[in-house]
Amino acid sequence: MEYRPLGKTGLTVSVAGLGCGGNSRLGLGRGASVDDCVAIVRTAVDLGVNFLDTAEAYGTEEIVGAAARSYDRDKLVISTKAIFNTSDTAETVTRKVEASLKRLGLDYVDVFHFHAVSPAAYEHHRDVLAPALVRVKEQGKVRHVGITETSPNDPEQKTLARAIQEAPWEVTMLAYSLMNQGARHKIFPETQRQGIGTLLMFVVRNIFSNAAYRHDIFAKLVEQGELDASILSDGDPLAFVVGEGGAESITDAAYRYARHTQGVDVVLFGTGNKAHVKSNVDSILRPPLAPTIVERLHASFGHLKGVGLDRPGPVKVANR
Ligand SMILES: NC(=O)c1ccc[n+]([C@@H]2O[C@H](COP(=O)([O-])OP(=O)(O)OC[C@H]3O[C@@H](n4cnc5c(N)ncnc54)[C@H](OP(=O)(O)O)[C@@H]3O)[C@@H](O)[C@H]2O)c1
Repeated sequence: MEYRPLGKTGLTVSVAGLGCGGNSRLGLGRGASVDDCVAIVRTAVDLGVNFLDTAEAYGTEEIVGAAARSYDRDKLVISTKAIFNTSDTAETVTRKVEASLKRLGLDYVDVFHFHAVSPAAYEHHRDVLAPALVRVKEQGKVRHVGITETSPNDPEQKTLARAIQEAPWEVTMLAYSLMNQGARHKIFPETQRQGIGTLLMFVVRNIFSNAAYRHDIFAKLVEQGELDASILSDGDPLAFVVGEGGAESITDAAYRYARHTQGVDVVLFGTGNKAHVKSNVDSILRPPLAPTIVERLHASFGHLKGVGLDRPGPVKVANR
């Protein structure tokens, strides 16, 4: 495994982080047993993954806590989150942090994030809720303060564009992929300047793990005039990323593209499949894609916004 600093937090994190949410939720999403989900976490940790991301909304905090008990707590970096709305108060923050710690069975979490903060709710989070989270941090129950965007509702990344300029955010979780490259110019230069840690989500999701769905997305982009129709003329429009000097698969390419973008600290991968844990860690540790492929990805898709940011749950694929 490779490790790097998470912004200026002082934490050292694995470049591959296990996402315990998304569609898979460690396998809970398709009915796996708690023991099987714990085994997914342990498989990742045994491969050197030390960053684990969970959330109240995922229903996986107990699983992460159970898996964590087999390891030295200091060797793991555990991040959780909770969703707040604009009627919530400082008291709600304290209560939700305590509830997460209880479910995890831990004395502290390394990062506590405000989860999926919309641009309209941002000021309430910054002015009313964040001071409460900072007080909880002073008590040692939370080591660092984080904020995550609500990608499907904020494809322009308006929440983050503000958050990366302001206190008290130390870590941020954002969507980035080879077809959703906005953060490359808009977010990463500033997070690097400010020393804010970056955790990537939506690196693969459905678009790079489901070929039929990907075809539908490309067809829609052609229909909208975002891509030229010729892109659909010769099999999978992303086939050029695979092969000589390229990747082993489209999923492999998606993880490697994200991992080697300047300013990225942790690439989160979500899965309920042990074999995928291993292949995703392998992908994230492989070298960058060939420069010619990266240039083509930038030239072909650099103008797109919000592609591949589907909500959790099964995606619909057109009958063809
Ligand atoms: N803050 C937020 O609002 C937010 C939103 C989204 C995600 N997140 C975080 O980011 C994490 C990662 O996002 P994500 O869960 O959407 O994960 P992801 O890594 O982008 O994609 C996961 C999807 O790809 C499949 N997959 C994974 N590895 C594969 C492989 N090697 N080959 C083929 N298919 C593969 C998974 O299914 P299998 O189970 O079959 O592997 C799953 O359907 C989440 O778990 C969560 O921690 C946060």
